[in-house]
Amino acid sequence: MNIAIDGPAGAGKSTIAKLAAKSLGYVYVDTGAMYRAIALYVINNDVDYEDETSLKNALQNINIEIKYVEGAQRVLLNGDDVSEKIRQEAVGNMASKVATKGPVREKLLQLQRDIAASTDVIMDGRDIGTFVLPNAECKIYLTASVQVRAKRRYDELLAKGEAPCLEQIEKDIELRDYQDMNREIAPLKQAEDAIYIDSSDMTIEEVVDKICSYGR
Ligand code: DC
Repeated sequence: MNIAIDGPAGAGKSTIAKLAAKSLGYVYVDTGAMYRAIALYVINNDVDYEDETSLKNALQNINIEIKYVEGAQRVLLNGDDVSEKIRQEAVGNMASKVATKGPVREKLLQLQRDIAASTDVIMDGRDIGTFVLPNAECKIYLTASVQVRAKRRYDELLAKGEAPCLEQIEKDIELRDYQDMNREIAPLKQAEDAIYIDSSDMTIEEVVDKICSYGR
């Protein structure tokens, strides 16, 4: 059984998918983390990702592995566990840019399909229901308004002791939505057979319950 959850940045996909996976006994696969790991490499090595040759050369030097420690997904970039480093805003913004590139998407596609073929998964991302797992038994398109997503992110950063700017977060989210929805390859969109959930006025628990009711 595979459950695909797609939706824009900040819709709560990972929080919800993690809880639903726990409740259903599935493995949670965060595909955004894979794009983020490539973005981290691009940032750290100053790769000119707009230049196809430079990007392809860099990709040859990148090895991404996924492992699970006490049920939680860890991402290894060339053997280093980068699971925390990739959570920075700058890495997420770069991930959205490198994710527009065909060679980057090709590199991650097989890894994602192999994991889904090996076990029951809840996989989240942007193109899971439309492209990576078109035959997933259950597809969810999870979204929320830009304002609600920005406020959630703002509260998360505040709780971490940072001094975020709500207006900037809103702008970043709008830009990411635009990039993710308008790229040529595998853009973010609702699969025809996906269930649409707008979580703007729902609690985390309500969304998890709804998804689990489809997964059982
Ligand atoms: O879900 P996230 O914010 O960690 O994802 C970071 C970026 O990676 C996102 O803005 C677009 C890209 N991405 C993608 O193109 N396809 C996926 N399946 C997952 C993420």
